[in-house]
Amino acid sequence: NKSSFGLIGLGVMGKNLSLNIAEKGHSLSVYNRTIEGEEKVVNEFLELQEEHMRINGFTSLNNFIDSLEHPRKILIMIKAGKAIDQLIDLLTPLLSEGDILIDGGNSHYQDTKRRQQFLKEKKINFIGLGISGGEEGARKGPSLMPGGDLQSYDMVAPVLESIAATDIRGSKCCSYIGPDGSGHFVKMVHNGIEYGEMQLLAEVYALLSVSRSNEEIKELFVEWNSGNLNSYLLKITADILTAKEGNRYVLDLILDKAGNKGTGSWSTKAAFDLGTANTMMASAVFARYISSFKDKRSALSKLITGSSDSDSNIHNKTIKKAYEFARIINHQQGFQLLNEASKLYKWRLNLSEISRIWTNGCIIRSELMNNCISYFSNNHDLFENSNIIETLKANEQAIKSVLINGLTNRVPLDVFSAANNYWIAMTTERLSANIIQAQRDYFGAHTYQRVDASNHNFFHTNWHKL
Ligand code: 6PG
Repeated sequence: NKSSFGLIGLGVMGKNLSLNIAEKGHSLSVYNRTIEGEEKVVNEFLELQEEHMRINGFTSLNNFIDSLEHPRKILIMIKAGKAIDQLIDLLTPLLSEGDILIDGGNSHYQDTKRRQQFLKEKKINFIGLGISGGEEGARKGPSLMPGGDLQSYDMVAPVLESIAATDIRGSKCCSYIGPDGSGHFVKMVHNGIEYGEMQLLAEVYALLSVSRSNEEIKELFVEWNSGNLNSYLLKITADILTAKEGNRYVLDLILDKAGNKGTGSWSTKAAFDLGTANTMMASAVFARYISSFKDKRSALSKLITGSSDSDSNIHNKTIKKAYEFARIINHQQGFQLLNEASKLYKWRLNLSEISRIWTNGCIIRSELMNNCISYFSNNHDLFENSNIIETLKANEQAIKSVLINGLTNRVPLDVFSAANNYWIAMTTERLSANIIQAQRDYFGAHTYQRVDASNHNFFHTNWHKL
């Protein structure tokens, strides 16, 4: 009796996805490499399976491969990077034409494309699968973003769709994204948006904690979460605020150095490559980097103590509006990055469908994401929606007050500032970029376009003679 599906890598995500797959009635073979000290991983995992599950465990790659029905369908859940290439090298001699490998890690989309091309020559199909939702999502229903060859996707769709989260209309949060590395690209941008959303909440917390207790901030977040600001990240942040160990807040015990595994910076680098203005995710990445200079910050902070003004007078309504404003800009920027990639790579990304599969299972699920389904069903740009523009206009004063409050209290507001600057610049007809063009032309004869001539023509001024 061969298994219908295989999974390699019994880390946290691999284990939980395996249980999810088996629970949905699929027969499953799992493999974990066996190195010294890790022999027990497979056996211990098998003890977790419930009675109705059909999971077979293997510590030999050959036996694992032999245990699978043809064409083989194998989900790889190991650390992104070189390890994937090494595993592919081990697997390819064992596989047959038509087999399908699925990489469920946070791999770089260009690596995915390269691996697809390499395996295509061997007639092996490779799907880059973005998976969001962390440990709980993996077990109970993640959001899945598969990219690659459509025919291969169709063959694994019954398994992937059965394990995915379900949206409010009962559809699965799993949808074919497009060819190449588009699934991993979309997951990467998901994480870029995630970075912006997380940093926004960190900045709201920083401002509010000037004058409010954790309990008060939690109460406010719970109230916001019951309305149109509802989101998974807001909910967990509310929970986090009042969690205690003994009589101390866990938050106060956590060192203020943010880690990262790279997807936020990849997303930002993609924005640089594609020429999109993803200032919020960039600022969120840099804010994490700044936080990591803890020793320097501690030393320099001694120079400043005692000299700051403070103004605790920020109204709940004001910060709520500013938060709503900045979240819209964060989503606008994230989806514009998807748009540009879609155009350049000819992926024909469906932003409405991507919003839909991001409404459950994933980390950035929210009421705003839910609304994005209809916003993007008619156009590709949130700024073309009059409700969005009205909300941004109505909240412009609030973000200004929040930024002033941050300046007064010496609270860095990296992503709030980025949101505001983007909005101001995008709604300003004439920017100071004429100066940049003049400088470029002055020192490097780079030429410039003129307001009194056609856009197609470029001019040079002999500045020294004027
Ligand atoms: C998810 C998460 C998940 C992980 C990210 C963030 O959607 O389930 O995005 O993939 O938490 O990799 O990692 P870092 O914050 O460590 O970069």
